[in-house]
Amino acid sequence: MKKITIAIDGFSSTGKSTLAKQLAKHLGYVYVDTGAMYRAIALFAMQNGYISNEFFDKETLIASLSSIKLQFKFNTDLGFAEMYLNDTNVENEIRTIEVSSFVSKVAEISEVRAKLVEQQKEMGKDKGIVMDGRDIGTVVFPDSELKIFMTASATTRAQRRFDELTEKGGDVSFEEVLHNVEERDYIDTHRDNSPLVRADDAIEIDNSYLSREEQFDVVLGLVNETT
Ligand code: C5P
Repeated sequence: MKKITIAIDGFSSTGKSTLAKQLAKHLGYVYVDTGAMYRAIALFAMQNGYISNEFFDKETLIASLSSIKLQFKFNTDLGFAEMYLNDTNVENEIRTIEVSSFVSKVAEISEVRAKLVEQQKEMGKDKGIVMDGRDIGTVVFPDSELKIFMTASATTRAQRRFDELTEKGGDVSFEEVLHNVEERDYIDTHRDNSPLVRADDAIEIDNSYLSREEQFDVVLGLVNETT
C-alpha cells in the first residue's frame, strides 16, 4: 500500500488529535500535532515574560525565535510523541488554560508561522504522516492525498475540553473554557496569515454526534479509497 500524507484541520477541541493518533497507530504512520508546536512557542513567551494579560512584546519574541528548539520525542509507554522545548519535556505545561489563552496571539505572527511551517514540511517530506492543525491542508501540505476538516459546535467542544482539563485536576470553570474556545475560533479564522479555512478539496466531518469509533471508521474508509 502506498504511503500518503493525511492532513487534518479544524477548530479547537474537535478531537483532531485523538483521531490522528488512532489513524497513525493503525497505519504505522508518524503523527504530528502542530498545535503543540505553537503552544510550546507560547509557553516560551510566557516563561520569558514576553506575554501576559497586559502586554505582548512581539518584537522580542520574534528576535528570540532562532534560540527556540522544538522536538517531538516518542514515548513508548504512552504510545505517542511528546513535545520538547529546548530539551525540556513540556507536554503537560503546554496544555494548560493559560497557554491556551495566549497561543492564538502567538500563532498570528508571520515569523512564528514561517519557522514552524518549514519544520513541519521537513517532517512530512517522506509521507506516511498524519498531521493535525489549522493550515495543514491549505499551507503545509496543499498537495496531500487526503484532507479532513473537523467541526463540532462550540459548546460540544468546550465540554470535551472542560472534562479533559478537570480530569487532570485543572481548576477552571466551563464558562472560562467556552470563552477560550470561542476566542480562539475567532482569532484563528480571522487572522491575515493562514487563517483556519476548509481547503476546497477537504472532506468535512462534523463529529458532534459521532463516537470516536464511528469517526475512525469513516476516515479509515477514506484512507482505503485513497491508497
Ligand atoms: O490544536 P490546538 O488547539 O492545540 O492548537 C492551539 C492553537 O495553535 C490554535 O488555537 C491555533 O491558534 C494555533 N495553531 C495554528 N496552526 C496550526 C496549529 C495550531 O495556528 N497548524
